[in-house]
Amino acid sequence: MIDSSELCSDAALQKHDLRETGIHQPDAAAPDATAPDAAAPPSAKPPLPRVMVVANQKGGVGKTTTAVNLGAALAVLGYRVLIVDLDPQGNATTGLGINSRNLEATVYDVLLRDIPIEDATEPTSLRNLFIVPSTIHLAGAEIELVPAFSRELRLRRAIEQVTDDYDFVMIDCPPSLGLLTVNGLAAATEVVVPIQCEYYALEGLGQLLRNVNLVQTNLNPALEVTTIVMTMYDARTRLAEQVVREVRRHFGSRVCRHVVPRTVRLSEAPSFGQPIVVFDPNSRGALAYRELAKEVSGGAPQRVR
Ligand SMILES: Nc1ncnc2c1ncn2[C@@H]1O[C@H](COP(=O)(O)OP(=O)(O)OP(=O)(O)O)[C@@H](O)[C@H]1O
Ligand SMILES: [Mg+2]
Repeated sequence: MIDSSELCSDAALQKHDLRETGIHQPDAAAPDATAPDAAAPPSAKPPLPRVMVVANQKGGVGKTTTAVNLGAALAVLGYRVLIVDLDPQGNATTGLGINSRNLEATVYDVLLRDIPIEDATEPTSLRNLFIVPSTIHLAGAEIELVPAFSRELRLRRAIEQVTDDYDFVMIDCPPSLGLLTVNGLAAATEVVVPIQCEYYALEGLGQLLRNVNLVQTNLNPALEVTTIVMTMYDARTRLAEQVVREVRRHFGSRVCRHVVPRTVRLSEAPSFGQPIVVFDPNSRGALAYRELAKEVSGGAPQRVR
């Protein structure tokens, strides 16, 4: 069992903080940071179904935007996608137009009342896209889970029952490294890390990676950070380009070739309860997430059902 204090310790943050990585020292000789690296071999993608957890304990970096819009773009490609909202803020839930007042069961019931996940699964306005919603009740789960039997593996056990019904499961984590996020990490085989193209982009990443290692060692040997998504890229600033370059230097081919631009339409879509591919299919944000979906899926054929 993992010691939660270890997962969240400030010492770990200090020790593994990657802030001093030279991110603020532009490297004039480096190639265009945002350009696809043609020399890189096409990386083989894991077989479907893939369970991906979108995690970064830093708040507001684009976790939910990426879970919802990458999930929706994969659904548009014809994949069957389940988004699991593991955040008490419920942003993925409302962002997909689900009214939390009409729900009979949520991810809370799955984690704490052993309700089968299919009983808490809602369709969305997009064909092939489903969500296990969350509400603010989930905030209590962080504490209620502490004495629970097998507390880190609750989500994993629930998702295992339905993995075969989907091509992709995407878990949206809260901005913390508590038990909810540990449940997300324990349930997935791949970690997707959105990184905002801003100053201090790498702050806290070391802590996240250390937690991924802890979960890998203690709970889930299959877990790997496979996908780093650069978000809110503003082409007008040199800083954004420097951040992308620096992250690529650290993480190489795990960084997606396509970056997500900062666009107002992406930030407006959730208030209409729609993913960007529905809200404004021809916008730059929609295009970016569609390209990202192609890249992440690697063009894998949908499974026959
Ligand atoms: N590419 C983008 N362009 C413009 N706005 C964006 C973009 N991506 C995300 N946003 C906006 O930035 C804010 C934070 O994004 P989001 O909610 O996806 O982050 P998060 O990491 O899930 O946050 P939290 O840690 O609170 O869960 C939201 O208001 C969202 O609409
Ligand atoms: Mg979020």
